[in-house]
Amino acid sequence: MKIITHKLALIGFGNVGQGLATIIADKSAQLEAFGMKVQIAAVSDPIKGSIYNPNGLDAELLLKTVQSGITLDTLTAPYTGWSAKRTIEEADVDTVVELAYTDLKTGEPALTHMETALRRGLNVITTNKGPIALHYDRLMKLAKENNAHLRVEGTVMSGTPPLLFGLEHLVAAGITKIEGILNGTTNYIITRMMEGKSYSEALRETQELGYAEADPAGDVEGYDAAAKVVILANLLMKQSLKMEDVDREGITKLTPEDIANAKEDNECVKLIGRIESSSEGCKAEVRPLRIPLSHPLSSIQGATNAITYTTDILGEVTLIGTGAGRMETGYAIIADLIAIHKEHARSASGQVEKEVRL
Ligand code: HSE
Repeated sequence: MKIITHKLALIGFGNVGQGLATIIADKSAQLEAFGMKVQIAAVSDPIKGSIYNPNGLDAELLLKTVQSGITLDTLTAPYTGWSAKRTIEEADVDTVVELAYTDLKTGEPALTHMETALRRGLNVITTNKGPIALHYDRLMKLAKENNAHLRVEGTVMSGTPPLLFGLEHLVAAGITKIEGILNGTTNYIITRMMEGKSYSEALRETQELGYAEADPAGDVEGYDAAAKVVILANLLMKQSLKMEDVDREGITKLTPEDIANAKEDNECVKLIGRIESSSEGCKAEVRPLRIPLSHPLSSIQGATNAITYTTDILGEVTLIGTGAGRMETGYAIIADLIAIHKEHARSASGQVEKEVRL
């Protein structure tokens, strides 16, 4: 089997970047068996440092270095200290993995990073909800104009594939409603509060586990779930929603009493994201709701997420899986890379077939 090498530039080397590097280091045999060699050629992170070697970097060494608190610039390599901009503009790579922090108001700096990469004809893979919730159409147009791939699976439910599933499997099933638990941090906090932990203790655990956003206000005030609602609506239900179209309430007003009261009534509280389209239009919301313990979503614990798609043909289909975490979100990038690899392999074999026919 012909092996295709995928050279990556990682813009950001926090939780998700390190999760991705761990998978690349640990699963190279499985990827090669599929015809893929995945190589990190460049990393640029404002805190962890920057390094670029056109011939590839050792993923394990990158991890060991940052995990010992040493910056990447101190390693020996042809180039160090490059900014994100310079890395995207000059590094010899095929794919930019954009992992800068999430800004749900402007999408920056990730939006500019992605546009710069796509204009160069580089593929972009991101788990960053900001630019995708705000400017997906514009970015996709740019990708098509430049013959590049834009893949965003990790923006919703980390390594569990609700977008691919919706876009490929459910494409003709007629999705009329999507609802679910879309934020791992808040579900984890609520689960721990039901077990008797305090809100602040549970929030601290989510930060230690790498579930929470850099600014956890995005999670607990429902912005993160609202961004996912927008992404699901726009990609899977052909809507053009904006963040402000989502009627949003987070979990910050939820008290231990609310949770205890729900428990007494054989109910639980969940932060639910929902999009429903009808002849009257599309209604999108995120809010904490009390649901009976007999409801399928009541059993979704911790950082697990779940989405129920209501469709014309299949009725309800539910996808349950991991919704946050270093390795889990790192895996979403691998899944996107596999999708790009399959396209390359397919067009390469099409080319061969065409040449043979000629
Ligand atoms: N902070 C997010 C969550 C990470 O808790 O779900 C994954 O999007």
